[in-house]
Formats: sequence, C-alpha cells, structure tokens
Amino acid sequence: MAYYRSVGDVPRTRHTQHRDAEGRLRFEELMGEEGFSSDSSLLHHRGVPSAIVASEVWALPDQARTPNHPLAPRHLRLHELETGPDAVTDRRLVLGNADVRISYVVTGTDPSAHYRDAVGDECVFVEAGSGVVETVFGVVPYRTGDYVVLPRATTHRWVPAEPSRLYCIEASGHVAPPRRYLSRYGQLLEHAPYCERDLHGPSEPLLVEGRDVEVLVKHRTSAGVVGTRLVHDTHPFDVVGWDGCLYPYTFNIEDFMPITGKVHQPPPVHQVFEGPRFVVCNFLPRKVDYHPLAVPVPYYHSNVDSDEVMFYVAGDYEARKGSGIGLGSVSLHPGGHAHGPQPAAIEASLGAERFEESAVMVDTFAPLELGEGGTACEDPAYAWSWAGRRR
Ligand SMILES: [Fe+2]
Repeated sequence: MAYYRSVGDVPRTRHTQHRDAEGRLRFEELMGEEGFSSDSSLLHHRGVPSAIVASEVWALPDQARTPNHPLAPRHLRLHELETGPDAVTDRRLVLGNADVRISYVVTGTDPSAHYRDAVGDECVFVEAGSGVVETVFGVVPYRTGDYVVLPRATTHRWVPAEPSRLYCIEASGHVAPPRRYLSRYGQLLEHAPYCERDLHGPSEPLLVEGRDVEVLVKHRTSAGVVGTRLVHDTHPFDVVGWDGCLYPYTFNIEDFMPITGKVHQPPPVHQVFEGPRFVVCNFLPRKVDYHPLAVPVPYYHSNVDSDEVMFYVAGDYEARKGSGIGLGSVSLHPGGHAHGPQPAAIEASLGAERFEESAVMVDTFAPLELGEGGTACEDPAYAWSWAGRRR
C-alpha cells in the first residue's frame, strides 16, 4: 500500500523524542516489509511492543491438505460448512498450497481472539455481514462486499456487529494492487478499475488499557504454518499515532469499475489484487459484449499454469448454470483440465446485455490441495457436469 497516511499524534521529526503530557517517552516501532527496503510505517506506542510474558503453543485448526489426485474439477458448498463463531480460531481450511490458503468462517457477534498473521498478508472477503476490525493502526469498519486487507503481522481482532461470512485468503507474502495499474511511483493509473479514493484505512488511533493480553500468532516453521500464543505485558492497542504507507484498509466490490469490451474480455481485466504466485479477480454486475455476434459467456479455457478458484457470491453465474453451482459455492478448476460454460449456457447467453453475477476468483500458479473444510462440503457429482454422465 504505497499511499502515505498519518493518524493521531506523531512527532514532527521521525526518530526523535516523543513524549506524552506527563513527559513520558513514547516507544517508536518501524513496521516494514522486505528488510527496510519496501513499504513501512512508524508506530508510536505507550508501552514496549516487545514486552511479552509468556509464549505457548496455539494448536491451529486442522491445516492438513489432500492433493487433488486423481485430477478432477471440484465443487465445494461452503454454506453447508459448520464453522464459527470465532472469526480467527474457527476458520476451516477449504483449499491451500504453500503460497496461499483459503479458509471460511461464519462468525457470531462476540469479538474474535487478538491475532496476527506472521505468514503473510490476509485479504478477507466479506461475503455478508458488518462490523469493525480493531487493529494497532486503529479501527477499520467492514461491510458486505469488502475486501479487508491486513498486512502481515498486524495485530487485530474482528468485532462483528452481526454474524459475518468471511472468505479468508491468507497469503505467504504481500497482497497489493496489480503492478500494471501502478505508476512508477505507485499511484493507481487512470486505466485501473479503482483508485486510492476507494481504499479506506483507519482514521484515528485505538487506545485500550490492559495487562497480560493474549495474542495468537500464526507463523512459519520448516514444518509449515503453526501457531503460538504470546502474552503481551501491556495491551498491544496502545499506538497514539502512526504514519507511513503500510496499514490495513478495505476496498468494496461496488467501487470496482468493470472493464468491458466488444467481445468477451479475459479474466485479467477483472483483477483486483496480486499476491506472490496468485491473483485475486472479481466478476461483478456489468454490461456485456456488444459485438452483434458476441458470445457473452467465456470460451472454454485451459489455464495450463494455474488452478482457478471461483467463489460465487451473489446473482446468477451465467456460465455454470445447470452445473449445481449456486450461491456459496466454490469451484476449483485445476490446471490440466479445460473448463468453461455448461454447453446450454452458450446459446442461452446470446444477445444478453447484462450479467448480474458477483464472484471472487483466486488463481494460483502452484496446484491447490483440499483442506478438511473443502473435503467436508464437496459435491462429488460436479466433475461430470459438462458431460451429464459418469462412465
Ligand atoms: Fe476459468
């Protein structure tokens, strides 16, 4: 996030004495990416951010993954999953690989555990619900259709105002707008489908008193992703001010301006974010192709280098009508298998002027494996839905 923001009380000159009204020194922390060589922010704490008094194992929910073998396209019905109520500890792993993990949770209305993901940025799509995310940078409100982007190691907790359906995309690195939409200095260009005005970060500090505050940390070991429960001496939400280019923010899909064409436009025009070895795209209500002989649904395609995951959020997804796909469905279309519309959907789409679909897509370069949550809600008939029969 290369856009400067300043919130709360920061000293006029960085790395200089910053005192409160009683003369006590604040504690300055640089939170930065890529070893002091990329985006960062300076946070000014009341307490010492390093001060911990306990470290214990936090047993993560089941992270085991099953390879997609024998190879098959998959259909997972997330609305059939029992999850929750904690937005952090009750996530169920749906799909994952070493670069990105997708999990799903339906929250209650109690605040989640305090948490930070030290494996990578989290990009949480809010399928439904509203509330706030409290973070060390301040409060970020969220609502249906938001992506909540939380930089790696941002201490936060979810405080739902209502039960919320969260589709959690956990990266092993950083999530950012696609590079081709950025100027050489990082501004979103005119041809980008959104701009800085659409990104919403914290606007004031969040200060909470407390001692012995537990924070769950997801982090890396040679054995994969693990969890640790750290107990902080003083409350981590003690930042009186911060400034810089690294902070959590939201972006709502209704602010994405779809790029359309005379004939069918390929998925990259729907891209919203990129991560290490994966991309996030969204297919949203839009006018469709205006060539008199246009075929509005996609052609069959074989993404030889990718696995493609669609999450069907709202409306009708025209191309897969008749396949069993519905709201709350996830499809996995793996590399090595061509996919596309239901055959009847091609004829049915001719002459269409609008699609009302909303779907979020994650394309990964490495193959995805099924998490226990994905296996638990799989529709076993999906692979045969194009042929209409199984041998
Ligand atoms: Fe596709």
